[in-house]
Amino acid sequence: MKKRIVSGITATGQLTIGNYIGAIKNFIKFQDEYDMFIFVADLHALTIDIDSKNLRENKKNIMALYLACGLDPEKTTLFFQSDVLEHGIMNWIIENRTTIGELQRMTQFKDKSLKSNNKDKVKTGILTYPALMAGDILLYNPSLVPVGKDQKQHLELTRNIAERFNNEYGKTFIIPEPFITKNGSKIMSLKDPSKKMSKSSPSAKSYIALLDDPEKAYKKIMKSVTDGENKVYASKEKEGITNLMTIYSELKGFSFLEIENEFKGQDYKKFKDEVGKAVKSFLENLQKKYNDSIEKVDEVAKNGAIKARKLAKENLKIIYKKIGLK
Ligand code: TYM
Repeated sequence: MKKRIVSGITATGQLTIGNYIGAIKNFIKFQDEYDMFIFVADLHALTIDIDSKNLRENKKNIMALYLACGLDPEKTTLFFQSDVLEHGIMNWIIENRTTIGELQRMTQFKDKSLKSNNKDKVKTGILTYPALMAGDILLYNPSLVPVGKDQKQHLELTRNIAERFNNEYGKTFIIPEPFITKNGSKIMSLKDPSKKMSKSSPSAKSYIALLDDPEKAYKKIMKSVTDGENKVYASKEKEGITNLMTIYSELKGFSFLEIENEFKGQDYKKFKDEVGKAVKSFLENLQKKYNDSIEKVDEVAKNGAIKARKLAKENLKIIYKKIGLK
């Protein structure tokens, strides 16, 4: 039997090239080898202030982008999280196997709550969503969870919860392994390369959205923040250039060494022009497919939810028995 993979993307804002390189590209790599469950995490989007029209659009866009990027609904179960009601019940079970201390130690919680001027107004979900995420994963009992680097801590929490549950109730869950690539698991902002590229950033210049106008995306690369040295090589001190090298390497399949050789003696303008062209052509190809995919979304999500619910129900039945709800 094939081993199982589970992963998802939150329906907040436009998907970026960071989401593609850090997550979707790996989903595609695995879809022949694994039994994959990939969802749009729409329940997670409720942790931010999002109006219903945007949420509805984001959900659909992400599902269509999954298809346009190459996820095949014949091989991969694609669904909306909120269509599988078992996620809600599983969340409650997992929340009660998780402590407030563990959730307060999550760096994403600390970052997000620190930004707020009024701590009492921070939504409870900002604190508890890692438990929802652990539940999303454990509900399907996977072996592997491909994610970007920013999700590493959430995966560690998930593993701890699974181990604790197994110790308390007997072997129930496989302890899931994160799959995080060495390169590409953290694509940085184009405006401040010390920060992660984020789809919820207020500045659209800091990210390349997968649905950006390709010409505008080219310009964003040309204007991206680098350094004054004008030599193309990767280094911790050259975050902007290293980030562009990562994007170029991931889109074209070249190693860093090959890129350094290609641009030996050339200036940043020439390098950025090539990265910009690679991004532009990637987006053009993707967006052609996206326009066909958008019509398929409802059907794909409906079929995916049926398959996901079947497995979720079976697993929840086992969990109910273990904890005494049945
Ligand atoms: P989210 O929606 O923030 O990101 C989705 C995926 O994209 C990766 N990612 C990046 N990778 C490289 N560079 C970047 N700049 C970048 N930005 C994002 C993320 O690491 C992630 O893999 N809570 C999760 C969604 C979720 C989930 C799950 C994931 C909910 N339940 C269960 C896995 C399993 C989140 O907000 O990811």
